[in-house]
Amino acid sequence: MTSTTIKSKNNLTTKLINGLLNIKPLAEFAKTQARKMIIKRANFIGVPWENNVKHLENHDWQEEIKAVENPNINYPSYYLTSFHAYEKGNMSWDAAWELESAAYSVHSTIYSKIPQLDGDRNLRKSYHEFLQTQLPSNPDNILDIGCGVGLSTFALQETYPNSNISGLDLSPYFLAVAKYQAKQKGKSINWIHDAGEYNNLPLESFDLISTFLMFHELPQFAAENIISHSNKLLKKGGFFALMDMNPQSENYKKMPRYVFTLLKSTEPYLDQYFTLDIESMFIKCGFSTPKIVSISPRHRAIIAQKI
Ligand SMILES: C[S@@+](CC[C@H](N)C(=O)[O-])C[C@H]1O[C@@H](n2cnc3c(N)ncnc32)[C@H](O)[C@@H]1O
Repeated sequence: MTSTTIKSKNNLTTKLINGLLNIKPLAEFAKTQARKMIIKRANFIGVPWENNVKHLENHDWQEEIKAVENPNINYPSYYLTSFHAYEKGNMSWDAAWELESAAYSVHSTIYSKIPQLDGDRNLRKSYHEFLQTQLPSNPDNILDIGCGVGLSTFALQETYPNSNISGLDLSPYFLAVAKYQAKQKGKSINWIHDAGEYNNLPLESFDLISTFLMFHELPQFAAENIISHSNKLLKKGGFFALMDMNPQSENYKKMPRYVFTLLKSTEPYLDQYFTLDIESMFIKCGFSTPKIVSISPRHRAIIAQKI
């Protein structure tokens, strides 16, 4: 098969999958199946999904939510949609209580067909090993955009224990859980409830801005706005780094179409992420040509310097 034939076959499959996902009962079925698969895998690798959720559910969240919530926030409309099989997407307690267990499950098959508990840890380790080869010195001020419940922020703090670290996210529920987990771990992190693309953080104040698994959740215009605004937040010579799915990975190309359909049913902007010309976007937003490397069989890391 020529590459043009493969491309037009893929375009046709994409159209077919999108058509199917536009039929609400089919989309709901796909989402339910995707969720079942994730919970089953979590239990297989020894992550006690139900117990973890129950533990968080039983906590009284008033103190954390009051401490983190920004009452003046303006949510971008693309954000207020269903993600990851949650009707209210990232704006729900369920999503916040399940995120950590879900990350272990989803990443359990990165390095082996048989699900492994350390997939998530190894993915984060590979990213930081790569970053350390790229940064000339340890960054003083670090911002983790799209920090979720703090998994990526805690990994940054482990790697750079002497840095000032802030985690920013649009979901107050995720930030409340992040704050709670930080307290349990005895970590000091500044949690910020705001948008990556418009916030009042001080300009030219960060040495490193990192985003871990956020870009695949963004429409292309939002990705550009975040890169552009981050450029303003970075000091001259500062770095923007991101880790996310690698559209060039053979794993996605060879993925059985039904698995890809399940994945797409939970990720509304996946097509936009997969077709994004991220290299041109960085250059347009005032960065050096980014370095893009594969850091797992299905993920890539990107780093670019503010010029
Ligand atoms: C898949 S989660 C990744 C969480 C975390 N970085 C980790 O490694 O587990 C993506 C996160 O990006 C956040 N997010 C999406 N769009 C955002 C935006 N425009 N500004 C800030 N956060 C955003 C979501 O709320 C979510 O917490």
